[in-house]
Formats: sequence, C-alpha cells, structure tokens
Amino acid sequence: MVRRGQSPWTRSKMHWGFFELVNHGIPPELMDTLERMTKGHYKKCMEQRFRELVASKGLEYVQTEVHDLDWESTFQLTHLPVSNISQIPDLDDEYRKVMKEFAVKLEKLAEELMDLLCENLGLEKGYLKKAFYGSKGPNFGTKVSNYPPCPKPDLIKGLRAHTDAGGIVLLFQDDKVSGLQLLKDGQWVDVPPMHHSIVVNLGDQIEVITNGKYKSVMHRVVAQTDGNRMSIASFYNPGSDAVIHPAPGLVESEAEEAGGEAYPKFVFEDYMKLYAALKFQAKEPRFQAMKAVESSPNLGPIATA
Ligand SMILES: [Fe+2]
Repeated sequence: MVRRGQSPWTRSKMHWGFFELVNHGIPPELMDTLERMTKGHYKKCMEQRFRELVASKGLEYVQTEVHDLDWESTFQLTHLPVSNISQIPDLDDEYRKVMKEFAVKLEKLAEELMDLLCENLGLEKGYLKKAFYGSKGPNFGTKVSNYPPCPKPDLIKGLRAHTDAGGIVLLFQDDKVSGLQLLKDGQWVDVPPMHHSIVVNLGDQIEVITNGKYKSVMHRVVAQTDGNRMSIASFYNPGSDAVIHPAPGLVESEAEEAGGEAYPKFVFEDYMKLYAALKFQAKEPRFQAMKAVESSPNLGPIATA
C-alpha cells in the first residue's frame, strides 16, 4: 500500500509525512475520466488565459530567478463545509459530477488515513477527526493545477518550495509528466508519476497535533520544458475555528508539559492568516509566531500584510 519514504504505520519516534498509496479503493476508471476532463478543461478554458498572463508579465524572457510568482494555472473548489462547485464558472455538468464523486471518495480516504495515523500513534480512534472538527466540521477542498511547458524552469518554479498548512493532502498527479520534488536530508528528490496512485502529504497541523511525531515535508514543483503537468490536490483541513494543539497523550517531557518546547496552541484560521503571508518560508518561524501570540493573547489579530 505504501511506497515512498518511511512506512507511516510502524511505531517509531518520528515519521515521514510523505508517502504514496496504491490499492486505495478509488476506481482507476474514475481517475482516468477525471484526468481526461481536467486536461480538456485546461485546453478549453484556462490555456489562453495563462498565455496572456505570461505575456503580460514577460515571464518567458526572465533573466534572473523569479521569487514572487509560480508557473501554474489553477482553480480551487470547496467541498466542505459547504460546496461551491456549482458556482465555479466554465465547468461543464459532467466534469462537476465526476469531480464531486471523486471528492466524496477522497474525503472518506482522508478520514481512514487519519484513523490509521491515530492507531499508529496510540491515539484513540477518531481523535484527529474530532481535533479537526471545530463547530462546523472540517474544511475540505481541491486545488486543480496545470503546469504548462516552461522555457525557464530553473528561473521560475512551477510551485515554489513550501510545506502545506493544513491536515492531509491527497494528490492525484499526472500519469506521465513529472515535476513534483520533496526535500529529504537536504536534497530534492523526484516523486515520479505512478499511474493511479495517490500521493499523501501531511501538513503543519498534523505536525502540531502529533507533537512532531509526523513532520510536514517541504516540497515544490519544477515545471518541465515539454509536457503539461496536471495535479489535483485535495486538502482535508481543520474547521476554521478548530483549536489546534499537541495531543496531550503525545506530550512527553516535563519541559513540554510546562509549555517550554511544545508546539503552539492556536485557532486554525489564525494560522492560515499567517500562512497566507509566509507560505514560501520555513514552518518553524510560523510555529514560533503562533507560540508568541499564545503567550501574549493581548497582542490582537496577527498582521498578514
Ligand atoms: Fe503543497
């Protein structure tokens, strides 16, 4: 079932938050249909817009590394707590239907994975789901991306390096065009296409709740000079008002219990405000900033600009 990195289902001090699933129960025909429709939608509705954006910013002719833009064409869907899929322009009815069917299956897969993480950590079944729930249930959404052929992939990244902010990300990536890389032991490692697999990437919230037993992993996309890469990344995240903190059962040392070295406690939407400004930076300063707010609750809202 699990292909890449350290097995997440073995007990050890720290686990690698990046692995790949096969035999996950999502019908391959459904994945093929979704990939075909996503590529068709890009050609019909997104490609021209992307070309105009590239031309307007002169991106094909850059001579130095670009740090404030990504070579990607995207749109985003929300499934939970309330679906916005009927309001997204340009999607035909069949594409909406297939995307909804896929999202329902991924939501179930994410919840199954969360319970496997619980089992592996010695947490009660349902702990993570409950921790994510807040008052309205989890946020679940999908970012659909295309990374068109890029003439300068060394100067402009498909997607700059980052860890994901949320909980569990389930990625359905192109079956032929590579580009995803993760940072392991200081080296960028390719995550090559594997037909019908789902890449699983754990975000910063899982790192906090598991008190660092699972680490979120830095990753990026390098666009290719030929070939258009498709990626459908679905995010199972905490509800906006969910209070996130290390699970008490995973806080081990007295220093941690006293709050000295432990991960912070915060409301998820406050973390997201900070992340909006600091996504492409290391996660540690984000954790430190949330810790500072936790110990000085009168500082007021976090500045995001
Ligand atoms: Fe990501």
